[in-house]
Amino acid sequence: MAHQSDLIATDIEAYLLAHQHKSLLRFITCGSVDDGKSTLIGRLLYDSKMIFEDQLAALQADSKRVGTQGDDIDFALLVDGLAAEREQGITIDVAYRFFSTDKRKFIVADTPGHEQYTRNMVTGASTAQAAVILIDARRGVLTQTRRHAYLVKLLGIRHVVLAVNKMDLVGWSQARFDEIIADCHAFAAQIGLTDVIAIPISALKGENVAGPGLGGPWYQGPHLMSVLESLPVDDDLSERAFRMPVQWVNRPNSDFRGFAGLVVSGEVRPGDPIRALPSGRTSTVARIVVSSEDLDVAVAGQSVTLTLADEIDVSRGEVLVAAQTPPEVADQFEATIVWMDDDPLLPGRTYLLKQGTRTVGATVSEPKHKINVNTLEKLAAKRLELNEIGVCNLTLDSAIAFEPYAENRDLGGIILVDRLSNRTVAAGLLHFALRRSQNVHWQAIDVDKAARGALKGQRGRVVWLTGLSGSGKSTIANLVEKKLHAEGRHTYLLDGDNVRHGLNRDLGFTDADRVENIRRVAEVAKLMVDAGLIVLVSFISPFRAERELARGLMAEGDFVEVFVDTPLDVAESRDVKGLYKKARAGELKNFTGIDSPYEPPEHPEIRIDTTIETAAEAAERITARLNVALDYTI
Ligand code: ADX
Repeated sequence: MAHQSDLIATDIEAYLLAHQHKSLLRFITCGSVDDGKSTLIGRLLYDSKMIFEDQLAALQADSKRVGTQGDDIDFALLVDGLAAEREQGITIDVAYRFFSTDKRKFIVADTPGHEQYTRNMVTGASTAQAAVILIDARRGVLTQTRRHAYLVKLLGIRHVVLAVNKMDLVGWSQARFDEIIADCHAFAAQIGLTDVIAIPISALKGENVAGPGLGGPWYQGPHLMSVLESLPVDDDLSERAFRMPVQWVNRPNSDFRGFAGLVVSGEVRPGDPIRALPSGRTSTVARIVVSSEDLDVAVAGQSVTLTLADEIDVSRGEVLVAAQTPPEVADQFEATIVWMDDDPLLPGRTYLLKQGTRTVGATVSEPKHKINVNTLEKLAAKRLELNEIGVCNLTLDSAIAFEPYAENRDLGGIILVDRLSNRTVAAGLLHFALRRSQNVHWQAIDVDKAARGALKGQRGRVVWLTGLSGSGKSTIANLVEKKLHAEGRHTYLLDGDNVRHGLNRDLGFTDADRVENIRRVAEVAKLMVDAGLIVLVSFISPFRAERELARGLMAEGDFVEVFVDTPLDVAESRDVKGLYKKARAGELKNFTGIDSPYEPPEHPEIRIDTTIETAAEAAERITARLNVALDYTI
């Protein structure tokens, strides 16, 4: 490596020690392809001597071959490491780079500037303490500068450096710089960004980057590197109340039981009273252990293991907090949602919500509005598409301890994950708990499912038939119900067409409406199972996610999925209701199998191939399976 410090050669121990105690600043750079972002980062790395000798040699060779700077080094090549990027001349993903100076260590997230990459910027920004927003001095404040500033503010980054680049190309005009800064300050004030520092630079020439600028003597302020070296990094996190999400329970032997995690705010000492949330159990900190040494205190940013004075049950995902100043616990929130998946948000679908180490199920409401990130206008919206940002309500299937994102990124920031594909589909920033969730409680009821079932001599179950329209679901369900009824069983048949005449008559056939259709039917089926009934559900129910939701609502073994597997051409040739004909003629939109998807079950309890099995045989098989597999006695 080019010599960063003579200590490396003379006293490596002293060098490593100094390095270890340096503070770390995480920052992002935002700007577009042409603002000179990659050149700036390349410059920072080069000037902080964080380039290996062999990298430097390769860079010099590359600069001559494909660079844009003649015989000079093209710093952008250092950063635009991906071949694809080089060819297209754009940066396409978040790249994290490390460098350090004598004063501080840095991790910079280089995020692309185009609108379609909002999700990458959000990813890079979520852990950053500062942002460097690049502006091309010739072009001034652009729509995308506003978008970047808005996202930076939204994601809770407090310190912003406006790097007005390419000053050499505007002859280091002070008037031009002042004009740009006036524009920026007006906008920053509008969105509430207060800590903004502006620096005129030339990344290409290295002026005001890691050393003074010679072109504009009128600028007497600090250069970029010295600003980055002096920005506050901990933002009073240590002064807040103590919070530590439990990452794992460390139990090497029966004598030691510790709770390991990262202290995300505040500090903790042995003897401090703590509370575990959401369970609410309390105890006192006995020891703070880090690699088998005991500490007197642990502060925000440290990963530690705590042992407690009492044997209380605390599991991964709970948050240990200062007993006297606990955060709120809730299961319904208003939140800003940044949608990051190619498939749009389906209001009503359950996603997995991850908040730090905790994972729960959650549904998202229809957006209250979405935000035009370029103009900050609020627009009406039914759903959110890739890179769109909206305000929605979240309903969780169990409560979490939280703080508003604006106060605590760790307890207020969440991500949503698709249950089936495991893709991260959204990032969310919690605003506040909805009061309705705080005022609605579970009411204890003495007569329960088992008691109701006992009176009927059976145990409530649901038999869920899924398949294309015209596959034969309703015919089979009807036969099964008749058989069970004849055997003296208490049953109910929920049929798609029928329920859509009443409870669900406000719903159509868009993806979102089908999600809601199945959600409601699943909830109704659950109530009926709770009432001790054997419930037959006959709905197309085209999406796996909602069928899994229904399964998840029932107790283990109480959900029997029956896939009525009739190929499209067979269902279409039967066309009992004449709907396929209409759909083919374009008179009926969003018809399942034609222009709306059907996701077949992967592991149904029962599969019926209606091309080789009659409805009567299928009904016989389902009833037999119920009678054998399901124990009606309790
Ligand atoms: S689901 O997809 O939301 O589960 P559901 O089972 O309630 O559908 O309703 C399906 C029934 O509605 C079909 O059997 C058919 O009679 C009727 N129908 C009307 N329009 C459509 C459509 N666009 N797609 C599917 N079924 C439709």
